[in-house]
Amino acid sequence: MEEVIALVLAAGKGTRMKSEKPKVVHEVLYKPMINHVVDELKALGVDEIIVVVGHEAKQVEDIVDGVTFVYQDQQLGTGHAVLQAKDVLADKEGMTLVLCGDAPLVRKETLKELINYHQENQNKATLMSADCDTSTHYGRVIKIDGQVKGIVEYKDLQDSQKDITEMNTSEYCFDNQALFAALAKVTNDNAQKEYYLTDVIGIMNEDNLKVDAYKIDDFNEVGGINDRVALAEATQILRDRINKEHLLNGVNIIDPQNTYIGRDVVIGIDTTIEPGCIIKGNTVIGNNCHIGPYCEFTNMEIKDNVEIKFSVLSDSIIECGVDIGPYSRLRTNCHIKENAHLGNFVEMKKAIFGKGSKASHLTYVGDAEVGEDVNFGCGTITSNYDGKNKSLTKIEDNVFIGCNTNLVAPVTVRRNAYIAAGSTITKEVEEDALAIARARQVNKEGYSKILKEIREQEYAKRNKKK
Ligand code: UD1
Ligand code: CA
Repeated sequence: MEEVIALVLAAGKGTRMKSEKPKVVHEVLYKPMINHVVDELKALGVDEIIVVVGHEAKQVEDIVDGVTFVYQDQQLGTGHAVLQAKDVLADKEGMTLVLCGDAPLVRKETLKELINYHQENQNKATLMSADCDTSTHYGRVIKIDGQVKGIVEYKDLQDSQKDITEMNTSEYCFDNQALFAALAKVTNDNAQKEYYLTDVIGIMNEDNLKVDAYKIDDFNEVGGINDRVALAEATQILRDRINKEHLLNGVNIIDPQNTYIGRDVVIGIDTTIEPGCIIKGNTVIGNNCHIGPYCEFTNMEIKDNVEIKFSVLSDSIIECGVDIGPYSRLRTNCHIKENAHLGNFVEMKKAIFGKGSKASHLTYVGDAEVGEDVNFGCGTITSNYDGKNKSLTKIEDNVFIGCNTNLVAPVTVRRNAYIAAGSTITKEVEEDALAIARARQVNKEGYSKILKEIREQEYAKRNKKK
C-alpha cells in the first residue's frame, strides 16, 4: 500500500470553549481530545502522524507522544494550518489523511473505510461527510447531479444553500501532491478572513481532479466539538458507545447511564459493574469480578473474582479473589496478592500485601512489604515518613498485629511474631516473638472515688469565690 501520513490540526485556541487551555486538551471521558485522535491513528497503523500545534503549543506537546509536531504561529485558518506541514510533506508521494483534533470520536474502522474508498475510486481528494441538522453551523457539501463541487462554510452559505444537510466532517484523504498544489491557490476572501482548507475541494474540482465525498451514517462519530455543550454531549455519546460494546461482550453493567468507562479499559466476561463507577486510564479488569457501587479506578490491573466497593484505586495490581472496601484507597504501585482483604477505611501506597493477608479496618500501609496471612488489627499504621525520608516496613508471613499498632519504619517483623495492641514498634521483632511496646498498666485501688471527692471540693471552692 502507498504511504499514509496523517495530519492532525490542533493549533486553534477554541474561543467558543471559553477556556485558558487549548481546545484539544479538554477531555472527553477522561482523555484529552487530541489523544483520542492520535491513539486511533496509531491503532489504524499509519506511517507517520504530524500534529499542527500553535496556541499554547506546549500544553499539547506535553501530553502527546510518538508524533511529529509542526508549528502554526498565527491561526489563520485550517488551510494555513495544513500549509505549515509543507516542509515535511510536500515532496512526498502518497496519501495524506487530514483530521481535526476537535473531532475525538472518530473510529479507526471508519478511517479505514475512508482510505479504501479513496483508493478504490482513485480520487485526488475524498472528504468524509454525514447528514446533520440544518441548525448546525458546520460547512456544507455542495453537489450538482451527485458530483461534489465544493464546500461552503456555514457563515458563507447563500440562502438557497441553507437547506443542505450534508456536512463536511473535516476528515479527508488527499493525494499529497495535489493537496499542496491546490493549497497554494487558497485565499482568505470569505466571511472569516481565513485560509480555509475546505476551499481545496472546489479548487481541485475546477482543475478537473477527481474529488468525491464518502458519506457515513453516524453523525455522532464526526461532529467537531466547538463548545462545552458539545463536549458534554461527546462524553455521553462515547460513554454509551463503550458501555454498549462491553454489554455485548459479556460485561454486566447495571446502570449504563451512570457508569463511565474510558476508551482504553478492558473488562472480562461475567464481571458486574454497579452504578456510579468511573473506570479510566489503562485499567484492565478480569472475569467474574464485582465492581462498585461508586468506585474510581485509574490504571488498575485487576485479576479474576475480585470484589471492590466504594473505593478509589490507582496504578496498582490486584490479584484473584481479593475483596476490597467499602472506602479503601490504593495509590502508586500497590500489589495486593491472592485472596487478601482490605476493609473499611484502609489506605495503601507502594505496598506489597501478601496472599490471604487482612487489613479489615482503619489502617494505613505505606512503603511496606507484607507477607502471607498477616493480620493487621484495627488502626494499625506504618509510620513511613520522618519528615524527610520514606522508609520501609517489612512484615513476614503469619504475623499478627494487634489493634492500634504503630510500626515506625525502617523496621522488620519476622515470621509468626505477635504484636500486642497499642504497641509502637521501633525495633526488629524476632521470629515467633511477642512484642509489647507500651507503658505497663497500673491500677490504684479505690482511687476513682478519691478522685471524685477531690474534684467536688475544688468545684465548691471555686463557686464560693464568685
Ligand atoms: C471546520 C471546517 C468545516 C467543518 C467543521 C467540522 C474549515 C474552514 N471548516 O470548521 O467545514 O464542517 O470543521 O467540524 O476547515 N485549526 C488550526 N489552525 C487554524 C484554525 C483551526 O490548527 O488556524 C484547527 C483547530 O484547532 C481545530 C480544527 O483545525 O482542531 C478545526 O478548526 P475549527 O476552527 O474548529 O473549524 P470549524 O469552524 O469547526
Ligand atoms: Ca471545529
